[in-house]
Amino acid sequence: MDPIGNPYTPNAGSRPPELAGRAGELEQFRVLVGRLKRGAAEQSMIIRGLRGVGKTVLLNAFEDRAESDGFLTYYHELTPDSSLVGEIARDAQSALARLKLSARAVKGVRAALEHLGTIRLTGPEGIGLAVDLRQADEGTIAGDLSELLLALGAAAASKRSGVVFLLDEVQFIKEVEYRSLISALHRATQKNMPITAAAAGLPQIPRLTGEARSYAERLFTFPVIAGLSEDDARAAFVEPARRQQVDYEPDAVALALSWTRGYPFYIQQLGKHAWNLAKSSPITTEDVQAAIPVAQQALDTSIYEVRIQRATREERRYMRAMAELGEGPYRSGDVAAKLGRRTTEISMTRQHLIDKGLAYATEDYGHVDFTVPRFDEFMRRHMPYRAPSSAQRKRKP
Ligand SMILES: Nc1ncnc2c1ncn2[C@@H]1O[C@H](COP(=O)(O)OP(=O)(O)O)[C@@H](O)[C@H]1O
Ligand SMILES: [Mg+2]
Repeated sequence: MDPIGNPYTPNAGSRPPELAGRAGELEQFRVLVGRLKRGAAEQSMIIRGLRGVGKTVLLNAFEDRAESDGFLTYYHELTPDSSLVGEIARDAQSALARLKLSARAVKGVRAALEHLGTIRLTGPEGIGLAVDLRQADEGTIAGDLSELLLALGAAAASKRSGVVFLLDEVQFIKEVEYRSLISALHRATQKNMPITAAAAGLPQIPRLTGEARSYAERLFTFPVIAGLSEDDARAAFVEPARRQQVDYEPDAVALALSWTRGYPFYIQQLGKHAWNLAKSSPITTEDVQAAIPVAQQALDTSIYEVRIQRATREERRYMRAMAELGEGPYRSGDVAAKLGRRTTEISMTRQHLIDKGLAYATEDYGHVDFTVPRFDEFMRRHMPYRAPSSAQRKRKP
C-alpha cells in the first residue's frame, strides 16, 4: 500500500498514532499538572526502562499535556557532558522572559537572585543569568538552585502558569547536580510552587542516599516501563491501520504479536513494512511473514549495529559471551567462564560496557544485562561464539 499513508513510527521519540499501554502514567501526569496549578503538591515520575520501550515518547506526551495546561516546558536530553544546573538557569532565564513580568516583578526576581554565589545576574537590568559552578560546594549549588526555582515558581504562579522540566537520558546526570535538583525541587514543593521535573532514563539512574533519597521518594514515583501487554501490543499494531480503514487477518496479528513480543520498536518497524508490502486491506499473514526479515534488517541497522560500533573487540567478545548464555540477566562469573577468564580479569571490560550504555548492572548484585531488548539474539546473529580453548579454561580458578 502507499507508503505515503504509512501510519507507523519506527523512529526514536516519534509519537505513535496509538500510544498504547501508558494510560496510568499519562493520568498521573495530568493530575500532577492540575494539582500544581491549584498550588497543591503531587508526585512526579522518574521513568526507568530499556531502550526502545517508549520513554521519550512518554516525556513528549507529558510536554504536550503541560503546555496545553498553560505551563512552560523545557526538554533536555542529557549527555555525559551536560551541566544540568547551567541548562536550568538558561531555561529559567527564558521562562522569566516568556512570562512578560512587570518591571516591579523583574525587580523582585533580581533582588532574590542578587546575592547568589553560583548564579549571577549578567546585566544592570532584566534577568540575564550566568552560572559558574567551579569551586562551589554542593550546599551552595543546591541553595542557589533552590532560590532560582523559588523565584521562577513565584513569577510563574503570578501569571497563573508553571514550569515543567523534562529530563531524558537521566542516567547521565551528575550526582551533585542530581542531589541539588532534588533538594531544590523539594523546597519549591514545600512552598507550593507550580514547578516540577519529570525524567526518564535507563535502569541505572544514580542511587541516592540519606536526605536526598528521602526527598526523592516524596517527590517522585519510579515506574518501570517495559514492553506492552498482549492487548496493548495488539492495539499498537492494529489501531494505526484501522484508523485508515485498513485491517489485518487475525492470523497476521497473531504472528506479529509473537514476533514483536510487545516491544514497541519491533511493533512500529513490522507495521511499517507489512503496510508497505501489502497490496490491499486486509493485510495478510503472508504480508507479515514477508515483512519480518525486512523489519529485522531495519532494526539491526537502526538499533543494534549503531550501538555495537561503539564497542571494542574485547567488549564485543564479552557481549557475545553474554549472548551465549541465552536471555539475561547474566552473572558476571558465568560470562567470565564463557570467555575462559577470571571475573576480575574482565571486570574493566564489563565496566566499559556499562559506561557506554550497552549494558547495565541489574538490581541483583553481580548481574549485568543488555540495555536494548533482544540484544542477545542480535549478538548471536551478528558474530560466531568462540569457545575458550582448554588451556584457557584451565587458567580459571
Ligand atoms: N506506547 C507505545 N505504543 C506504541 N508504540 C510506541 C509506544 N511507545 C513508543 N513507541 C514507539 O517505540 C519506539 C521507541 O520509542 P522511544 O520513546 O524512542 O523509546 P525510548 O525513549 O524508551 O528508547 C518509537 O518508534 C515509538 O514510536
Ligand atoms: Mg529515548
